[in-house]
Amino acid sequence: MTASLAIQDHIAIITINNPPVNGLGHATRTAISEHLRAAENNSDAIAIVLTGTGKVFSGGADIKEFGTDKTYAEPSLPSLLVQMDACNKPIIAALNGVCMGGGLELALACHYRVATSAIQIALPEVKLGLLPGAGGTQRLPRLVDMETCLDMICSGRSYYSDQLVETKLFDAFVSIGAQLLQTTIDFANKVATVRPIPRVRDLIANQTITPETFATARENLQKKSKHLPAPFACVDALEASVKLDFDLGIQTERQLFQQLLQSPESRALRHIFMAERAAGKIADIDASTPLRAVNSVAILGAGTMGTGIAMNFANAGFPVRLLDLQEDSLTRGLARVREQYQAAVKKGKLTQNECEERCNLIVGVQSYSDIAQVDLVIEAVFEDLAVKKSVFEQLDQTMKAGAILASNTSTLDLNEIAMVTKRPQDVIGLHFFSPANIMELLEVVRTKHTATDVLATCFSLAKKIKKTAIIAGVCDGFIGNRMLEQYTKQAAFLLEEGCTPQQVDHAIEAFGFAMGPFRMNDLAGNDISWAIRKRRIAANSNAIYSKLGDRLCEMGRFGQKTQAGWYDYQANDRTAYSSDIVNQMIRSHARELGVPQRQISDEEIVQRLVLALANEGRKILRDGIAARASDIDLVYLKGYGFPAHRGGPMYFAESLGWEKVDQLLQQFQQGHQGQTWIL
Ligand code: NAI
Repeated sequence: MTASLAIQDHIAIITINNPPVNGLGHATRTAISEHLRAAENNSDAIAIVLTGTGKVFSGGADIKEFGTDKTYAEPSLPSLLVQMDACNKPIIAALNGVCMGGGLELALACHYRVATSAIQIALPEVKLGLLPGAGGTQRLPRLVDMETCLDMICSGRSYYSDQLVETKLFDAFVSIGAQLLQTTIDFANKVATVRPIPRVRDLIANQTITPETFATARENLQKKSKHLPAPFACVDALEASVKLDFDLGIQTERQLFQQLLQSPESRALRHIFMAERAAGKIADIDASTPLRAVNSVAILGAGTMGTGIAMNFANAGFPVRLLDLQEDSLTRGLARVREQYQAAVKKGKLTQNECEERCNLIVGVQSYSDIAQVDLVIEAVFEDLAVKKSVFEQLDQTMKAGAILASNTSTLDLNEIAMVTKRPQDVIGLHFFSPANIMELLEVVRTKHTATDVLATCFSLAKKIKKTAIIAGVCDGFIGNRMLEQYTKQAAFLLEEGCTPQQVDHAIEAFGFAMGPFRMNDLAGNDISWAIRKRRIAANSNAIYSKLGDRLCEMGRFGQKTQAGWYDYQANDRTAYSSDIVNQMIRSHARELGVPQRQISDEEIVQRLVLALANEGRKILRDGIAARASDIDLVYLKGYGFPAHRGGPMYFAESLGWEKVDQLLQQFQQGHQGQTWIL
């Protein structure tokens, strides 16, 4: 049974027991409903306590039933709450732990709530493009001030019970969890005979609002989440709670919920939610795969990436040795670490003590013998195969047996690097993204030789340092950068066919990307991609690419750092201004090539760019480099600023249908002298 019933001191105790999060799946709802009925009919019970097992009251909907008929099968959650409202004995929630989503809505339909301190309280539905659809938007404002409701429901943010202790949400509060059940039973005995039984639905929704409350909330959302309908619908539903009576408010909430459920944004966000759950699954690894102990870490190279990676581990409490052979690089690297932590103190994100603790965890060293005993070493030295090979030879000679040897290379052949050691099974790629202490993505690159326990250990470690780990195979650019190359190529081809950089950037930014490809390249430095192109052309002289980026660099326009790139810049100003010189250069280059010029719609720009990503993603899947399409979507979301409400490039292509995608790709390449650069 997913919920049990017991009688103690004349109180019926219903305990939800559906691990891991006491999800309110169909079986659980049925069990609660039947136990409620039994408790009502049991003359020995004068009141009912509803609680959960372990550290969770209820985490809400059961994700295993997501999208299946069971989600809405009777008793649905709304019907169960109607049954609770009509119950002839008081129901008291004993909030023993996490109380989220449908779990909080269940608690809100109880007649009283007793809570313990430090438990998580949230209505996170908006994160899936939805709103709380079982009365949450109507009951919460009857107990909690509107400002908090707006923040909690429109952002989906978690609160701790202690933050809500001053509200009417809780009728009693215990600071020590162990006493909760007995306190609730005593409370139940006290209120058992109180009539009428107080129902949240009969209260008047919070009146502490001003005429501007909802308008201001909408204005703020316009700035933060203008692409998303769900937060706006949350405001509408909350407004209904003060303007309409309870039943009409519930009806409004239901209608808004149904609309959101069908919205493309919610579908995409639910896809991402499932993608995140699938991401850690690797065919030949399971819970029985042994893990290697990792308690200490060394990072090689105190440059941009090395220092960011070191901070990641220090943030999670790992002692880190940062090794750089150049004394001045090491000094600069350590200073950069301190500077960044100090900046976090200034912003109030860290205390000075925490800053000191983290700085102290990162110790600079200059000799390989100083790192020999650590459990994991991550190399982030120059991107040069010869340099990396010699580093791995050294590591092979120095590191203790069983240490994991990782490389942060973005492009180099890790199979080859692994083979310079006598322990290729211990070698793996851990590809962080810049800035490494902030970006959530980590590509975990499995070579031909990587042992399963090394792989499993790195996935487990990724969780500890709060990264989304995606498994990738060895190829140039792995998943993300290999696809990015096609995206960048398309962007330049669009210029050759008639677009300006600002038109391309504007179209893709309106689609939801944080930054278009040209503004992005100006920020990263056009000279870096120029150097990579030269290397690739040297390796494959048949490669098809636009020479516009080369022309730009030949003009010395490397981007923001030279105050001139695809755009013009002014000193101390990151605003991108349209550049006449660049636009003329683009047009004259296109004339020389003889590419027919035409007006290109924003829709085509978006499709060209996103389908270039998806097309390469499809090849990556065929080559076995990525494990599943949804992993590729996550790479783009977490590492490249792809808008979450669009679901990712593969989801975008799958929503169009691959047949349609192929038709579009054929059509697009015709505009560009029929070159077969896209399929
Ligand atoms: P960087 O040039 O900022 O830093 C490299 C550091 O390595 C320098 O401090 C240098 O003194 C040190 N170094 C060189 N040889 C060494 C050796 N034999 N032993 C110890 N230290 C040595 O380079 P960056 O940007 O940090 O890149 C490092 C690695 O990370 C490269 O493989 C790069 O491809 C990769 N990467 C870079 C990203 C980026 O956005 N910069 C993103 C993801 C990966």
